Amino acid sequence: MVSKLIALEVYPKLKDIDFRILRGVELNMRYYEWVPLEVIAKFARTDVESASHRLGKLDNWGLVLRRGDIGYIGYQLTIHGYDTLAIRTFARRGVIEAISSTQIGVGKEADIYVGVTPQGEKVAVKFNRIGRTSFTRIKLYRRDFMNKRHISWLYVSRLVAEREYEALQLLSPIAKVPKPISWNRHVVVMEFIDGVELSELRDTDLTKEEAEEILNKVLTEYKKIVEFGIVHSDMSEFNIVLKDDGDILIIDWPQYLPTAYPESLEYLKRDIQVILNAFHRRWRVKKDFEEIWEEFYEAYLKSRGGKK
Ligand SMILES: Nc1ncnc2c1ncn2[C@@H]1O[C@H](COP(=O)(O)OP(=O)(O)O)[C@@H](O)[C@H]1O
Ligand SMILES: [Mg+2]
Repeated sequence: MVSKLIALEVYPKLKDIDFRILRGVELNMRYYEWVPLEVIAKFARTDVESASHRLGKLDNWGLVLRRGDIGYIGYQLTIHGYDTLAIRTFARRGVIEAISSTQIGVGKEADIYVGVTPQGEKVAVKFNRIGRTSFTRIKLYRRDFMNKRHISWLYVSRLVAEREYEALQLLSPIAKVPKPISWNRHVVVMEFIDGVELSELRDTDLTKEEAEEILNKVLTEYKKIVEFGIVHSDMSEFNIVLKDDGDILIIDWPQYLPTAYPESLEYLKRDIQVILNAFHRRWRVKKDFEEIWEEFYEAYLKSRGGKK
């Protein structure tokens, strides 16, 4: 499903006061499910009438939600409001000058758009949409936010972006992953990759020999990453990109686990099974799981200083 980036359409209509209002709603969502109008007005350094007027517009544009049946008038930020704040931050940092309204990636839990830097370079802008479809991946983070009182999509989607930025920072110096450029709220800006996901290729696009060569590259790369101390935990043909120059990249890292976590071993095993199965099913490339697993297990143990 391709979704429009509503924030982009609304952005030119926004005044400074609107950004202060959005920020007021955002910050106070930590304390209120529905942030009272008076609190927002105070934060935005304006009177209640002006705040109410601007909030009416922001509501019409889809950046906030309003509720009046709770004994007072309260507002919540929508995902579009959150997008707007992140875009503003990137613009101010000089990270992006423009974003194209055509979505490039339609992932499971993110919308990806092409951005342009002030220097004219193309970048990928990944907006996390966790909570839109399922909470499957969130399980992995439970230990991170177990002791937070209020678990909101706002908090979780920000955490997801932070985790991915962290993984890309750790891995990009040593492995074939996109280079991270910037992170804010629920959005990560990274190097734009020209290529196709393996899942987009038809079975007839590759010969068995070509497929085997690609599989070997993926395994070599992944082994290096595991030896470094990181498990992807969501490896599949959807998260491997074949670049136009024939090289590969491994993408989509928010659910990574350090090999120091005992659960990581099961995820690693599943990752290897998924990759081998995909290549076998689609291009008849047959590898012995036990043989490959032995190499990966060795890399895994090495990363843990030899400890099982
Ligand atoms: N850096 C990038 N450059 C170009 N396209 C990308 C980039 N990152 C992701 N994409 C595209 O967007 C899709 C979804 O991205 P991904 O990181 O896998 O998110 P999701 O969690 O939604 O699966 C990818 O399969 C790919 O087609
Ligand atoms: Mg993906």
